[in-house]
Amino acid sequence: MTTILGIETSCDETAAAVVDDGCRVRSNFIASQVDLHAKYGGVVPEIASRAHIERLDAIIAEAMDRAACSVDGVDAIAVTNRPGLVGALLIGVTAAKTLSWAWDKPLVAVDHIQAHAYSPAIGLADQIQNEPQTSVRADKHHASDSLWPAIALVVSGGHTSLFMVKSPIEIEVLGATTDDAAGEAFDKVATILGLPYPGGPAIERIARQGNPRAVDFPRTMLGARSLDFSFSGIKTAVLYHVHGHGQTSGGLERLSTTELADIAASFQAAVIDVLVRKTMLAVGQTGMNTVVLGGGVAANGALRSALEEACTERKLRFRAVERAYCTDNAAMIAALGYHQLQAGDLVGLDLDAYPTGVLV
Ligand code: KG4
Ligand code: ZN
Repeated sequence: MTTILGIETSCDETAAAVVDDGCRVRSNFIASQVDLHAKYGGVVPEIASRAHIERLDAIIAEAMDRAACSVDGVDAIAVTNRPGLVGALLIGVTAAKTLSWAWDKPLVAVDHIQAHAYSPAIGLADQIQNEPQTSVRADKHHASDSLWPAIALVVSGGHTSLFMVKSPIEIEVLGATTDDAAGEAFDKVATILGLPYPGGPAIERIARQGNPRAVDFPRTMLGARSLDFSFSGIKTAVLYHVHGHGQTSGGLERLSTTELADIAASFQAAVIDVLVRKTMLAVGQTGMNTVVLGGGVAANGALRSALEEACTERKLRFRAVERAYCTDNAAMIAALGYHQLQAGDLVGLDLDAYPTGVLV
């Protein structure tokens, strides 16, 4: 058994987790900073960094405690070092480097978006085969092996991407957002509709009461074969629908609760429509027969059902990330970190943090 301590501080969640063999989660502890940022309507980088500093030590200790894991029981430390807010990332990276040095453990640097792409594999642990750990091919019998290759749709606050995941550590970009990410569009549209931050859950909540066909919002496809995304047009369409064409304020007060719910439902349906159509396009272009879904927006029940339905219709295998690992968490960092450790992909104490990802 290989045990990894994961650390994640790329945005506004301070998180630590202990995961065995890349898929069995022993603890997954997240301290959300939503309360600290809500009154600003978005994440304030300086506030995020300060909160990470104040909380991270205790959160790592709590994750170790909950897993009943001692320092001796940790085989390596995995930390998110990109992409994200550099000031926030640096807190986690510095903590991980310090522990790696003090505990004399190998250090692994994980790309946050690649971890979201791998996250649907978490929880496949029960299917793990009992291969002897000494076998050089033990890695070939990992529980997640049955999942790959797959098309991964990763929908988060900062990214909307389609990947071809050949194995946990061999990932290619098929398409990415050219402007706003899907989660960002949910957050901005929520602000337009006067809903609280974070916008995704708030829109999903009121959309349940609305008619998804009430307003025909644009579905931006960027060309018949394009796997890239654009969600800034729909955001502007919602803005003008609420306030009147060319107007950016004054219209919200005139809307009834029903009209608001209809707008939220129609917006959500249009975004989901684009995400599902592009994913199916990627399947058609690559001949893959498995689709996985990860990222914060994967918490959206309507998206999960729509993608599952599209996969079932085409006889494709589908696996959505378990809800506990949708939004930012350290379990996915420790889980992917395991595969990087197995591949010998280690880093030294000169590890740095970067705002951009390895792939997107
Ligand atoms: O993956 P994540 O936690 O952070 C980033 O890596 O960006 O994703 C956060 C995003 C936010 O934009 C949030 O509004 C969105 O995920 N989100 C949702 C839902 N829950 C979170 N979007 C739609 N429906 C939801 N239920
Ligand atoms: Zn994320």
